[in-house]
Amino acid sequence: MPPVAEPPPLRHHNRVDGPDDLARALTPQGEIALRRRGAVHELIVNGVFAMDSAEVTSELALADAAGPDPGVVVVGGLGLGFTAARLLAAGADTVHVVELARPLIDWALAGVTDQLERVAHDPRVRLHHGDIVEWLPRREELFDAVLLDVDNGPGFLIHDSNAQVYAALWLADAVERLRPGGVLVIWSESAAPELAATLAALGHLKERMITVEREGRRFDYALYVLRRRGPQHTV
Ligand SMILES: C[S@@+](CC[C@H](N)C(=O)[O-])C[C@H]1O[C@@H](n2cnc3c(N)ncnc32)[C@H](O)[C@@H]1O
Repeated sequence: MPPVAEPPPLRHHNRVDGPDDLARALTPQGEIALRRRGAVHELIVNGVFAMDSAEVTSELALADAAGPDPGVVVVGGLGLGFTAARLLAAGADTVHVVELARPLIDWALAGVTDQLERVAHDPRVRLHHGDIVEWLPRREELFDAVLLDVDNGPGFLIHDSNAQVYAALWLADAVERLRPGGVLVIWSESAAPELAATLAALGHLKERMITVEREGRRFDYALYVLRRRGPQHTV
């Protein structure tokens, strides 16, 4: 008998019990949809359940990894706006949000959820439609933090092209876009030892596991926090 595959973590489930569509659109990268299930918002990307608003500990921790004075930050992936909203609440000067799905930006500007509307209209936020893979290396300025939550991690891709975000060459370029002492933080749906090894070669790396419980199941998400070495950070 073939082995029975473990179901994927809940963050990736396509659940079937009666959500309402708030918005839905086709993009060159597949379908994107925003749904509501009671008070909970869900985001579907390329037909895959990407996240919901019920459990966002790790989305908030991603923002917190930028530190108490976040400065000028790049966020890869708007999603439901939790990471960006947290940075704004912490007093970030500027938050560049880079989002691949144009409809999601339009829905945010139109106020599809209160949080997305607040984020989209905050004067400190710059919403960029584009692929972080191409957007970041083209920038000439340096950032205090680059926070990436565009996919599930190297082991479970929603968009195959996002494999580059976890590749050594692209990551080395990304670190070049940080001020000395700045941080690159990557969310992953599970520990990713190869990614950790790649990052450790580029600066001072900390791995932070975040355990969450959802509907009786336990999930161990990982945040990789890479600090660019600089005169004031010699660790
Ligand atoms: C899990 S959500 C981000 C959640 C977000 N941290 C929050 O707090 O709500 C991932 C987002 O990244 C976007 N995305 C996927 N690939 C991307 C890419 N290469 N560049 C920019 N955005 C991307 C998706 O469309 C989606 O909006």
